[in-house]
Amino acid sequence: MNRIERLLSSMTLSEKLGQLTMTACGHAVTGPTIAGDSTAAIKSGAIGNLLNLVGAQDVRDMQKLAVEESRLGIPLLIGYDVIHGHRTVFPVPLAEAGLFDPATWTLTAREAAKEAAADGLALTFAPMLDVARDPRWGRIAEGPGEDPWLGMRIAAAKVRGFQGDDLSAADAVAACAKHYCAYGAVMAGREYASVDISERTVLEVHMPPFASAVHAGVACIMPAFTDLAGVPMTANAAMLRDWLRDKLGFDGVIISDYNAIAELIHHGVAADKAAAAALALQAGVDIDMMADAYRNGLPIALQRGLVTIGQIDTSVRRVLKLKENLGLFEDPYRRGARAEDPAELLKRRELAREVAVRSIVMLKNTASTLPLSASVKRLALLGPLADASPEMRGPWWGAAGETGQITVLEGLRDAFPAVEITHAQGVPIAADDVSGMSAALQACEGADAIVLCAGEAATMSGEAASRAHLGLPGVQRSFCELVFARARQLNTPVIVVLFSGRPLVVPWLIEAADAVLAAWFPGSEAGHAIADLIVGRASPSGRTPVSWPRAAGQVPIFFGERPSGRPAAASDHFTSKYLDVANDPLFPFGFGLTYGKFEFGNLRVSPHAVRESQMIEALIDVTNVGAGEAEETVFLFTHDVLASVARPLLELKAFAKIKLAPGARGTVTLSFAAAELRFLGLSLQPVFEFGEIEILVGPCADRAKLLRAVVQLTP
Ligand code: BGC
Repeated sequence: MNRIERLLSSMTLSEKLGQLTMTACGHAVTGPTIAGDSTAAIKSGAIGNLLNLVGAQDVRDMQKLAVEESRLGIPLLIGYDVIHGHRTVFPVPLAEAGLFDPATWTLTAREAAKEAAADGLALTFAPMLDVARDPRWGRIAEGPGEDPWLGMRIAAAKVRGFQGDDLSAADAVAACAKHYCAYGAVMAGREYASVDISERTVLEVHMPPFASAVHAGVACIMPAFTDLAGVPMTANAAMLRDWLRDKLGFDGVIISDYNAIAELIHHGVAADKAAAAALALQAGVDIDMMADAYRNGLPIALQRGLVTIGQIDTSVRRVLKLKENLGLFEDPYRRGARAEDPAELLKRRELAREVAVRSIVMLKNTASTLPLSASVKRLALLGPLADASPEMRGPWWGAAGETGQITVLEGLRDAFPAVEITHAQGVPIAADDVSGMSAALQACEGADAIVLCAGEAATMSGEAASRAHLGLPGVQRSFCELVFARARQLNTPVIVVLFSGRPLVVPWLIEAADAVLAAWFPGSEAGHAIADLIVGRASPSGRTPVSWPRAAGQVPIFFGERPSGRPAAASDHFTSKYLDVANDPLFPFGFGLTYGKFEFGNLRVSPHAVRESQMIEALIDVTNVGAGEAEETVFLFTHDVLASVARPLLELKAFAKIKLAPGARGTVTLSFAAAELRFLGLSLQPVFEFGEIEILVGPCADRAKLLRAVVQLTP
């Protein structure tokens, strides 16, 4: 008998349910404490998994209770939200998506895993893979943005990064892809609201990143809090059991979201915790996070005949298998035992800086305002985010403290040691205190340039952070308008650094500024990264991974829309458009300026006639006709012109990067498998339909900027 079967055969019901229970563990002055319970529960085997405990010593203490003082000595599985870094914070995932660089996506996850593992953790609740097309939803900050194909690439890269080659290694953590599925489609962008979208959209848009995570070997999956057409994901047997387990072949651990099993009662599909627990278990949820529904409800559900002990055993086996794969039985302390090498920490900070530099998107740069010239003598640094270390972390900051992030003020001081920098906050982020305004306006006098740091607080995106108004919070708009007015009188350029976890709808701000850097939340090295771009030590290269709306009324907005029967035409009133705003976004997906300027030409695509088993290759020449060296991202989209089901106007299939000195030309090669042009036909089964496919290559998802070629799909 193997270890798992041996253990299972000697476990009591309470011990089995302990393995299916995950409870939060906080910090008391004297050490870790477990919410609403006692450490006795670990010793008795009634709790087998923890979340929210960090620190190698605390983890060790808790692990000791399980390993050395419980009857069966089964180690705990301890998880934490390591979303974009643990102690060293990288840019928020949405920002990092805009790097379009799988190797870096993997690397930051690998480094985060090392830090988390050094803290004793064996599981992260990441990557978050919810495709989001509605920036009202705050959790857009945590994920891959609007495109499923991009989400698939990120999913694979992140799973590889967190888990490494060997899950049992002392620096590997189990990944947990979340939140399955379609959470990003909550009604009206409102957090935790209902989801009701077509099966086609679920399968074509929201499922693919999860399929990719499963394919990459993800250890765990977390169902979304939300329902799908009336069936909460936590109890959705069709989505969890039939799709995830049977169709996608996922045999890892499904962990409920926080208290989600108990919330089945609020959803109105379970009368009590026992019924809720039965629904979740039957759907395939193995671990109950924080609801205590399995511990308390499954014994009742067993009595009622709602579940069988065989179903419980199946879940226990999966949890024990994961613990075994993590190497916890061999050495439960291996993760916390590895001291971090200070040189490694330093290198990680450098990586954080580099990734932050590359995630920032330059939205505007009139008359080459940036980089600032070396002759600058005085700078005015204004705004509530100019010296705001905690905010730089963005939502889900892991174990990073409030201090320790490099602020814009610190970054600019380092970059411009000889420049006089006058700093004034002006107004707070969200409160309506205007007492600091006049000092800030005063600071503009005599400045050669004004750097204005505006935006959201870190906690205004992420979980439970939906916003109906997507502008600047508080009195920031009035403040910025006064600064712009004063700057115009003084003839001083204004560089806006915009912080947010979503594209903010601020067309007036972008219009008035001379230059705009969308910094998102850049993490630990925020100020250095921003300063690197402002002084021109680096050329901006980040791209927006979401369409940037002109008006909140345009959302949901995304490039993969399907065609209308009445495409917008200015000359025809009865076509698909708004009376009061253009249809297109202010900045399309993929947009981002650099200190260079790129021209595209000579698109060659082969073969012309393509079979399903072949690769399609596109070559395009790119020339930097600008004044500075820069890196360009080149995108390849397809459009299936005529199909049995209307296909999106653009579908992303490849991207590539090229760095070019001024005046230099290079050729970029992009390729993808023709099989990727399969789609779900009328009966939702994959089909490869013959006919014409447009291949569109260029700098962003704006058809007018893309070069076009055509291939024929053939038998
Ligand atoms: C969030 C998850 C997170 C979990 C544990 C929940 O509220 O929805 O994304 O992993 O808490 O912290």
